[in-house]
Amino acid sequence: MAKIIGAVGSSHIPAIGLAIAKKQQQEPYWKGFFDGHIPIWNWLKEKKPDIAVVFYNDHGLEFFLDKKPTFSIGAAEEYISYDEGWGLATIPPIKGDPELSWHICNTLVEDEFDITICQELGVDHGLTVPMQLMFPGDPNYGGIKVIPVIINCELHPMPSPKRCYKLGQSIARAIQSYDQDLDVVIFGTGGLSHQLDGQNAGYINKEFDLMCLDKLVNDPEYLFKFSVRDIIENAGAQGIEFNMWMGMRGALPGKVEQLHFNYTIPISNTAAGTMLLSHE
Ligand code: DHB
Ligand code: FE
Repeated sequence: MAKIIGAVGSSHIPAIGLAIAKKQQQEPYWKGFFDGHIPIWNWLKEKKPDIAVVFYNDHGLEFFLDKKPTFSIGAAEEYISYDEGWGLATIPPIKGDPELSWHICNTLVEDEFDITICQELGVDHGLTVPMQLMFPGDPNYGGIKVIPVIINCELHPMPSPKRCYKLGQSIARAIQSYDQDLDVVIFGTGGLSHQLDGQNAGYINKEFDLMCLDKLVNDPEYLFKFSVRDIIENAGAQGIEFNMWMGMRGALPGKVEQLHFNYTIPISNTAAGTMLLSHE
């Protein structure tokens, strides 16, 4: 049977991709952020997961404002990186596992999640930057295959943190009922407090971020009381990317242990959290 072996939360900011391309990891601005990933790099090298389920948001590359599914799942052999601006170079296609994707889609629909299933899917920095960040210098990402899970956080109405957590729980049920010996890691990308435009651009709320991350590990259901609006009021307009972390945490069954944590402010306009979780 497939097994969920752990989860990683991190940032997907385009500037991280640029810093990797320019080999700036040891420059003073970036050192704390990149070094904060060393235990995760080591863990991934040791555990060699077969599959990464990646919770991210599409920033308009595939779903622009004319069509915005609430939840979408990739079900393709590979996912193409297109030029999306930001100065980021495109990268070779990232491999998928359509059979597992379809199994997850079937379970989600049975569980009453009305998802959009994408047999072709262009992927943006929400997915490509974390892949480059987690597998430094390895264009093959340790041979891992990805299952993209996209949550709308660009256009209202957006799903609540609670709903995203429940999506994660349903994905966990799907993985645990999949009849192949695969080790699966869950990635949640994006967040934390950030606002990219308007009067509050660059707004960071460290206290709120740290509270959310602590509860995420130890008492995730506490966070169900927050609406989308509550998150945006406390963490900035794009702070709702925290929903990716809710999905990721929902997909970790049983008792959870935090193996590593790092928090760096600011990185570009945002607070960047990094977390490694395992479970019983
Ligand atoms: C930035 C952050 C994001 O989450 C994003 O999608 C794009 C840019 C930033 O802080 O620069
Ligand atoms: Fe983003």
